Amino acid sequence: MLVLGVESTCDETAIALVEDGCRVVAETIASQVDDHAIYGGVVPEIASRAHIENLALMLHGTIEKAGIAWSDIDAVAVANRPGLVGCLMVGLTAAKTLAWTLDKPLIGVDHVQAHLYSVCLDARELPLLPAVGLVVSGGHTSLYHVRSWTDILLLGRTIDDAVGEAYDKVAALLKLGYPGGPVIDRLAEQGDAKAIAFPRPLLGPDSLDFSFSGLKTSVLYHVRGKSGRERDVESLTQPQIADVCASFQAACVEVIEKKLSRARRRTSAASIIVGGGVSANRGLRSALDAMAVPTFTPPMRYCTDNAAMTAGLGGLLLRQGFADDLTLDASPRTSLV
Ligand code: KG4
Ligand code: ZN
Repeated sequence: MLVLGVESTCDETAIALVEDGCRVVAETIASQVDDHAIYGGVVPEIASRAHIENLALMLHGTIEKAGIAWSDIDAVAVANRPGLVGCLMVGLTAAKTLAWTLDKPLIGVDHVQAHLYSVCLDARELPLLPAVGLVVSGGHTSLYHVRSWTDILLLGRTIDDAVGEAYDKVAALLKLGYPGGPVIDRLAEQGDAKAIAFPRPLLGPDSLDFSFSGLKTSVLYHVRGKSGRERDVESLTQPQIADVCASFQAACVEVIEKKLSRARRRTSAASIIVGGGVSANRGLRSALDAMAVPTFTPPMRYCTDNAAMTAGLGGLLLRQGFADDLTLDASPRTSLV
C-alpha cells in the first residue's frame, strides 16, 4: 500500500511516499529556516505563504522522483493537527484536493503521534510495545505510554517551554542563530559539561512533567549577570560559550533521562521511543544508548519535521480501518491527551 503524506504544520513543507507504513519510497522537504532566521523564530504568516508557493511543485517533484503515476497512490495522509492553523490549512486543502480528484481515501494524522511513529521508518528493528514514548521538539516535550500505535496515553508534559524552544532561546541569547539545537549540540562537544552547575528541574520526586524556563533563566543570569543586563555575550570567550552549551545540554539531557527512567518504572514498558527535532541531539542519543532498556530513535533525517512519518502512520491507520472525509478540519491541538 502506497501512501502520499503531506506535512505543513510549521516551517517545513514536506511530501513523501511511503510503502506499507515503513519503507520510504521518495521524499521532498523544503525548509524555510532562512525565511524565518532574521526574525529569530517562525513567523506564521510567512510560513503559510511559503507552503502555498512550495506545495504544487513539490507534489509533482516527488511523484517524478518515485517514477510512479498519480493513480499508483492508494491513499493521501495529511498532518492536520497540531500546528499553526494557517499552515495546516494549506497542506489540508492540498491533501483534500488530491484525495478527491484521485478518488482515494484521506487520512488526518496527528503530528505528535507521527513523531513517535517515526522510529518505524526504514527501521531494522521495530520497538516492542507497550513502550514509553517521548516527543521532544520545538513545540512539544511530552511523555506517553504507547500501549499500541493507536492507544497512547499522556503521562506528563512541559509546564512551560518545550526543550527545543529552550535550545532556541539559549542560542538566541548566545547569538548563535536559529534554529539553536544543532549549533548548541555541536558546540557542546567542545565544552566542559561540568563547567557550570545549571539546575536540573525535576518538579518533585514523582512528577513526569517537565519545566525548562528556570534553566533558561539560569543561563541568562550566567551570561548577562543577575540583573540580566550587566554584560553581554560578547564578554565571553569562545571556550566559555562552549562550556555554557555543554553545561546547558548536560542539564537538559539529565532531566530527560531521569523522567524516562521514572516513566519506565511506572509503566514497566519494554522499550523507550524518542522522536522530534531534539531526538537528533548527540548528547541525548548517547545517554539513551546507555540506558538499561532498548531505546529507539528515528534515523537522523526523520527527527525534525518530515512527511514520511505522516505517510507511514497514515498507512498504519488506514490498515486498521481509520479514514476521514472531506469535512476533516485543522486543529492547533494534539489529540494525544
Ligand atoms: O520536530 P521539529 O522539527 O519541529 C517541531 O515539531 O517543533 O523540532 C524542531 C526543534 C527546534 O527547536 C530545534 O532547535 C530542535 O528541534 N533541534 C535540536 C537539534 N536539532 C533540532 N535540538 C537539540 N539538538 C539537536 N541536534
Ligand atoms: Zn514536529
